[in-house]
Amino acid sequence: MVSAVFVPRELDRREARVAASPDAVKRLVGLGFDVVIEAGAGQPSDMSDDDFAKAGARIGTVEDARRADVVLKVRPPVEREIAGYAPRAIVIAIMDPYGNEAAIAAMAKVGLSTFAMELMPRITRAQSMDVLSSQANLAGYQAVIEAAAHFNRAFPMMMTAAGTVPAAKVFVMGAGVAGLQAIATARRLGAAVSATDVRLAVKEQVASLGAKFIAIEDDEFKAAETSGGYAKEMSKEYQAKQAALVADHIAKQDIVITTALIPGRPAPRLVSRDMLRSMKPGAVVVDLAVERGGNVEGVVAGEVADVEGVKVVGFADMPGRIAASASALYAKNLVTFLETMINKETKQVVVNLDDELIKATMLTHAGQVVHPAFGGNTLAMSA
Ligand code: NAI
Repeated sequence: MVSAVFVPRELDRREARVAASPDAVKRLVGLGFDVVIEAGAGQPSDMSDDDFAKAGARIGTVEDARRADVVLKVRPPVEREIAGYAPRAIVIAIMDPYGNEAAIAAMAKVGLSTFAMELMPRITRAQSMDVLSSQANLAGYQAVIEAAAHFNRAFPMMMTAAGTVPAAKVFVMGAGVAGLQAIATARRLGAAVSATDVRLAVKEQVASLGAKFIAIEDDEFKAAETSGGYAKEMSKEYQAKQAALVADHIAKQDIVITTALIPGRPAPRLVSRDMLRSMKPGAVVVDLAVERGGNVEGVVAGEVADVEGVKVVGFADMPGRIAASASALYAKNLVTFLETMINKETKQVVVNLDDELIKATMLTHAGQVVHPAFGGNTLAMSA
């Protein structure tokens, strides 16, 4: 029997992305799936029903969810969506599982097998399924575009007959996937770029993009990277030294873009009100860490706030502001993951409980919460 994949319209009005693209549909059809896209699902991402139909999908309604073996989504399903799924359906989305244990339990209760794409391990095999990277990369780009849109001056130096416009000074805090793309984008626009991070490994990457690296390079800094490649939470002493260095530097900047995150912790507070007050009139700060509490004091989620005379941009939906590209990459991540679940002989979707990608991402299965980080136990994995 052919397995059916359903892609709904995202219910959250603030979500412009969709969990499919015409290319992804073609690939799914090639793999033997029946694909149904809810009418209008791609419209906020500039993908029409026609584009999806040409790629081989059927355009359907929310009623088609009930017949689907696999549901692909961007945001986690809400109660009324869950109620509309077949009891043993596979649901793959960016599940936002931390702190949402009740929602996870609700998905377990109705028997869904659910997968959180953001828990995909960062190993070579899973690189093409890494939604944190695909979305952070675009968010880093878009952060610079938003900054430029809110900045009343030019980014590049311009020497004209009427006078010289100086290059904008851009400072990027946190040089992971989003930060490195922000540096590259600001450089392409002609800004003078500097960046900081607590991981020594990024120093060369920052320099290779043509930006100046600024950091307190003491012994703690040299040991701040975990074996997984992430940052540790820094000591109070380090934070104080970092703040003093940053305070001096920020006062001279036109644009600051913050992207600093520590896995499983609130975002580190890097920019204080005092620092904002020291900035020039017209300065713009973009805080990409806003959903995890923000790197900037006074940031307001979803808004451009005036904090101490500085425009502080707190958009929580940065990848959704470049939705067509973000959807295309996300859909590719999803299809690549789903492909790993297809049994080569039977062509059926089979959840292989021994696969490390399944173990890392599966939240619920066979009526139970299975992920140990969210109240499940690994024994349930063999249920
Ligand atoms: P992230 O989103 O967790 O954090 C962003 C950046 O903030 C990091 O560079 C981090 O060091 C920095 N940061 C944290 N605290 C800070 C502070 N107090 N001050 C300044 N900066 C601070 O990180 P992301 O972007 O997810 O990347 C983390 C690592 O994962 C990198 O080493 C990256 O190369 C690696 N990675 C590996 C992949 C793979 O092997 N498939 C894929 C993507 C990333």
